[in-house]
Amino acid sequence: MKILVCGGAGYIGSHVVRVLVERGYQVVVLDNFSTGHLGAVPKEAVIEEGDIRDRVFLGQVFQAHPIDCVMHFCANSLVGESMVEPLKYYHNNVYGTICLLETMVEQEVTRFVFSSTAAVYGEPEQSPITENSSKKPTNTYGETKLAVEKMLPWLDQAYGLKSMTFRYFNAAGAHPSGEIGEDHNPETHLLPLILKTALGQRDKISIFGEDYPTPDGSCIRDYIHVMDIAAAHILGMEKLLAGGESNIYNLGDGKGFSVKEVIDRTRAITGKAFAVEIADRRAGDPVELIASSEKAHQELGWKPAHSDLDTIIKTAWKWHQNHPQGYGE
Ligand code: UFG
Repeated sequence: MKILVCGGAGYIGSHVVRVLVERGYQVVVLDNFSTGHLGAVPKEAVIEEGDIRDRVFLGQVFQAHPIDCVMHFCANSLVGESMVEPLKYYHNNVYGTICLLETMVEQEVTRFVFSSTAAVYGEPEQSPITENSSKKPTNTYGETKLAVEKMLPWLDQAYGLKSMTFRYFNAAGAHPSGEIGEDHNPETHLLPLILKTALGQRDKISIFGEDYPTPDGSCIRDYIHVMDIAAAHILGMEKLLAGGESNIYNLGDGKGFSVKEVIDRTRAITGKAFAVEIADRRAGDPVELIASSEKAHQELGWKPAHSDLDTIIKTAWKWHQNHPQGYGE
C-alpha cells in the first residue's frame, strides 16, 4: 500500500509518517518545506518537494506513484496570524485543498484522511465537546478547516471520495525516541514555550490570564499526545482502505489541565525553576476546551496510550534536550 502524506515534514505529519513506515507502508511525503523540516522525514519515505497549489506538480506526483490513500496535513495553522492574514489561510488551506481533491478525483484516488482542529467549534456551548456540538469558529484558521470539512460529504456523494476527518485538541509531546518533535518558527504553543524557558532559551513563561472562571484562574485545555493522534490516523486510514464510510472524529484525552498545572508539572519533571509571569489574556482564547472522544473509542477502537500529562511532558522534554535548536535548519 502506498500512502501520500501531504505535509509529512510537519509536526503531526512527520509522526504519522514515522508510524506508517514502522508498520511497513510505502510512504511518499509531499511538502513545500515552508514550515516542515527535511530532518523530520525518515529515509524510508520518498520526498516530493512542491506545493499543493501547483496542479502540474500534483499531477506529476500522482502519475509517478500509484497512491492508495492521501493523508492531508498541509496547512497554515497559527490562529493569531490567520486573523491578520486571512487570505493566506483561504489560499493555502482551502484553495490548496481544492487543488489536491481535484487531482485525487482526476486520478481516481478515493481515500482521504483530513487533519482538522478543535478550532472549528469556537467558544464551546457544552463540555466535553462532541462531534455534534455547534460549530462557530472564532478565527479564520478554524473557518478554513470547517470549509473543507463541509465540502467532503458532497464529494463523497458525487465521486465516492471517502474521507476520515480528525479534529485535534491540543497536540503535544514527541516520538519516544526523542528523534522527532515539535519545531515551529515562531513557536506559540504552551508546552514547547515552557520547555524552551526550562532550557534557558527564554527568560520566562507568561500565563495569559489568571482571572478566568476556572479553579486556578488559568485556561484549561485537553492535551493529546502526537503519537496517539498518529495511531488514530492509522486506524482511520485502515478503516477507509477496508471499505469504511466517511466519518469525523474528535481526538482528545477527555481531561483538562490548566496552564498553571502544565507549568507546575513541567517544573517538577525538568527540575528547572524557571521564571513565570502573569500576563494579560490572549485575545480569542476560550476558557476551557475538553473533547469527548467517545466516538473514536467506540467506532475506531482508539484509546490514547501516551496522553497522560507526565508522558507528554517527558517525551517533549527529551526531544527539546536532544535538539535544543530543533531541526537546526
Ligand atoms: N498560553 C499561555 N502562555 C503562552 C502560550 C500559551 O498562557 O506563552 C496558554 C494559552 O492562552 C492557552 C493555552 O496556553 O490557554 C494553550 O495555548 P496554545 O497556544 O498552546 O494552544 P491553543 O489552545 O491556543 O491552540 C490549540 C491549537 C490550535 C487550535 C486550537 C483550538 O494549537 O491549532 O487549539 O482552539 F486552533
